[in-house]
Amino acid sequence: MEINIAGLKKYYSEKIILDINYLCIEKGTVTGLIGPNGSGKTTLLKIISGLDKDFIGTIKYDSELLNEDIYKKMTLVTQKPYLFRRKAYENIEYPLKIRETDKRIRKQKVEEIMKRFEIGDLRDKKGHLLSGGESQKVSLARALVFEPELLLLDEPTSNIDPESMKIMEREILRFNKEIKGTVLIVTHNIEQARRVCNNIIHLECGKVVY
Ligand SMILES: Nc1ncnc2c1ncn2[C@@H]1O[C@H](COP(=O)(O)OP(=O)(O)OP(=O)(O)O)[C@@H](O)[C@H]1O
Ligand SMILES: [Mg+2]
Repeated sequence: MEINIAGLKKYYSEKIILDINYLCIEKGTVTGLIGPNGSGKTTLLKIISGLDKDFIGTIKYDSELLNEDIYKKMTLVTQKPYLFRRKAYENIEYPLKIRETDKRIRKQKVEEIMKRFEIGDLRDKKGHLLSGGESQKVSLARALVFEPELLLLDEPTSNIDPESMKIMEREILRFNKEIKGTVLIVTHNIEQARRVCNNIIHLECGKVVY
């Protein structure tokens, strides 16, 4: 899939927050979205993922305008991830459950992703009791487990230690290479952007700067 944004404007009250003439997020790439606090990065991800439908302009997913079926093919990992008050295992299993994946396959996939993320020790911990970094790891695992077409990541490693950072970046790249998933990642870490991204978009005051 490819995302094409044209004539996007987003206002809060009278204030313009996003003003993007044209932007393309190419299929099969890892695109970095960087810019200062308040430049509109989170707002853009919310709009693409369907959390915010109050905008002017057109956003196409391949040749189709965003719609409910398309939203199901993507997932957003938010800046402060929300986890259910259930075990980490059940949180990760959830996207497969709602897609009615067979029970045996579900177990296999959750076990595999927990192993890849080295988070087996978190299996029975309740979502709301996890630390900031633990929540981010579980949330990324939950997003990757159902192999979405488009993965939207809002500062996914902001609370992550260096060792775990390597694991998460590795898994993001694996998703891109092996599953051919497209990734749009917000980060303040320029080194990270250089390590994982094919392209970088700079946002300033809601505008793309080149
Ligand atoms: N619900 C809202 N109501 C009013 N203003 C909002 C709302 N949400 C965000 N804003 C404003 O929109 C602007 C863009 O916010 P946004 O969260 O997209 O920035 P960001 O680039 O993600 O910043 P950060 O790097 O701090 O996460 C900010 O000025 C923010 O105060
Ligand atoms: Mg933000």
